[in-house]
Amino acid sequence: MPPAAPRGLFVTLEGGEGAGKSTQLEALAERARKLGVETVTTREPGGTALGERLRAALLSSEDGEIDERVELLVFNAARAQLVAEVVRPALERGALIICDRFADSTVAYQQYGRGLASDVVASAIELATGGLAPDLTILLDLEPGVGHARTAGADDYLERADARFHERVRDGFRALAAAVPEQWLVLDATLPPAEVTELAWARLRAALAERGLGVGR
Ligand code: TMP
Repeated sequence: MPPAAPRGLFVTLEGGEGAGKSTQLEALAERARKLGVETVTTREPGGTALGERLRAALLSSEDGEIDERVELLVFNAARAQLVAEVVRPALERGALIICDRFADSTVAYQQYGRGLASDVVASAIELATGGLAPDLTILLDLEPGVGHARTAGADDYLERADARFHERVRDGFRALAAAVPEQWLVLDATLPPAEVTELAWARLRAALAERGLGVGR
């Protein structure tokens, strides 16, 4: 018998460096919890003990050290662990799970950014996720130069990649959003953070209500 369809809601936040994803993730989670919805927050790479070790190994790399295929595999190894250990169980419990980055980051960074072939990237993602995709993805869209200025001082090898790489990543996210507009909400990350939260929450609350979550409060 095929596994039962997930009952919860899977939401991801995407965007380049310094777009404010973690601030928005906390603000949205707080609002959902106030509605009485069980809410799990997590991040990629990371979110599990193994995933956090893989994150540390990846992000402490020297410039140019990691082969791009290894980069693809390690991000997806951390993702496979997160899906098995955190995401699927949360959805099966009927929870809201909000993840700071997911597979769309791999398409943006490793496919558009690095130039890996789309079929290679798609098969790594398929292996890691088993086809699980978010119900809603919020893109915090920001011109890379602005994002870079916001993260100054906290850079890793990916943040140090050249400006053209970050332009391609942004183009990748925008192309993904344009291809499946019903799944994506694209927000201007230069808006005041409280305004971004209001716009994101309006969409998230509607998505929760569609699942019968958080209604009646
Ligand atoms: P973070 O700093 O937003 O937590 O993300 C860590 C870095 O990893 C960021 O530069 C984006 C990058 N990344 C990828 O290149 N591919 C991926 O699949 C994921 C999840 C993140």
